[in-house]
Amino acid sequence: MGEPAILVEGLTKSYGPVRALRGIDMAVPQGSVLGLLGPNGAGKTTAVRILATLLRPDAGRAVIVGHDVVREPDEVRATIGLTGQYAAVDENLTGRENLELVGRLLHVGRSAARARADELLADFDLVEAGRRPVRTYSGGMRRRLDLAASLVGRPAVLFLDEPTTGLDPRSRVGLWDVIARLVTEGTTILLTTQYLEEADRLADRIAVIDEGSVIAEGTSEELKDRLGEDVVELRLADRSRTEEGLALLRPLAAAEPAPDPETGRLNVPVRHAAGTLAEVVRRLDAAGLEVAELSLHRPSLDDVFLALTGRRAAHEAELETAGDAPERGRRQGRKAA
Ligand SMILES: Nc1ncnc2c1ncn2[C@@H]1O[C@H](COP(=O)(O)OP(=O)(O)O)[C@@H](O)[C@H]1O
Ligand SMILES: [Mg+2]
Repeated sequence: MGEPAILVEGLTKSYGPVRALRGIDMAVPQGSVLGLLGPNGAGKTTAVRILATLLRPDAGRAVIVGHDVVREPDEVRATIGLTGQYAAVDENLTGRENLELVGRLLHVGRSAARARADELLADFDLVEAGRRPVRTYSGGMRRRLDLAASLVGRPAVLFLDEPTTGLDPRSRVGLWDVIARLVTEGTTILLTTQYLEEADRLADRIAVIDEGSVIAEGTSEELKDRLGEDVVELRLADRSRTEEGLALLRPLAAAEPAPDPETGRLNVPVRHAAGTLAEVVRRLDAAGLEVAELSLHRPSLDDVFLALTGRRAAHEAELETAGDAPERGRRQGRKAA
């Protein structure tokens, strides 16, 4: 308990006219994982860069394990590890040489740097690959090496900026396992992601960020509970009558029903599913609105995101085929802009 490992208060940052962060607050307890979930352009990387002392905020403050990022950047850097969306390793060195180099840059002695490199190569399943130049690596191997490189100095706090974006499903799941292991070792992690499954799987708490503001925060279950107990999802045969349908169903909903702008499907959060479902059908039928599809499900983080932002979050169709997201296996959402 005690002081949070990461404390952020009223952080703002603009790039010229672009207001990338509009005053965000966060507190991440030691040893926990905060998932910063938001679409492209939400301000995730800007937040991470400020916390990692790579960018100065315009206002507000951020404190990492007691050190202010603006006033004590050296102390902060000694505490953190950062893994970017783009692997920052030398292509022409082997994986092992890269890790040893990082150790040397951190002023770890030669033999200690070598020992740490061995340990990390083993942990990240890179023992064989460690002998080859990085340019021969697959995307997943690069990310694992990048993550390993950020751990050479045994950071207490780790920033993972979209660690699995662009990876194939198998590599993504592999990296999730590695990250989950770090968590059990007590590392505090701030993980940014566009992927609901990733936040759901790895994060203790999730902050949903959109257009530079945190618009919701809580555990995955808390966020889902906000929408009521269940969601009736339906599609009208005649999409042009969506507004009419919405007007009929609004009185039955526990929260504002959300039409999916892409598919025209309506998500109606309801409290008492069984009774409400029949009433939904009756009302639409009485108005002569034909229902093309109808289903009932527990709200997903996807529903939460849609209700909060009016858009679907990034969606990994590939995960569905990998059988990794049964909850959303039937969805056809596409990546948000
Ligand atoms: N160096 C920059 N110069 C100008 N605008 C930027 C710069 N970096 C990011 N932005 C803008 O700031 C906003 C937030 O970007 P970013 O923090 O990269 O979001 P995310 O990581 O969530 O995709 C976006 O509108 C983006 O276009
Ligand atoms: Mg980013």
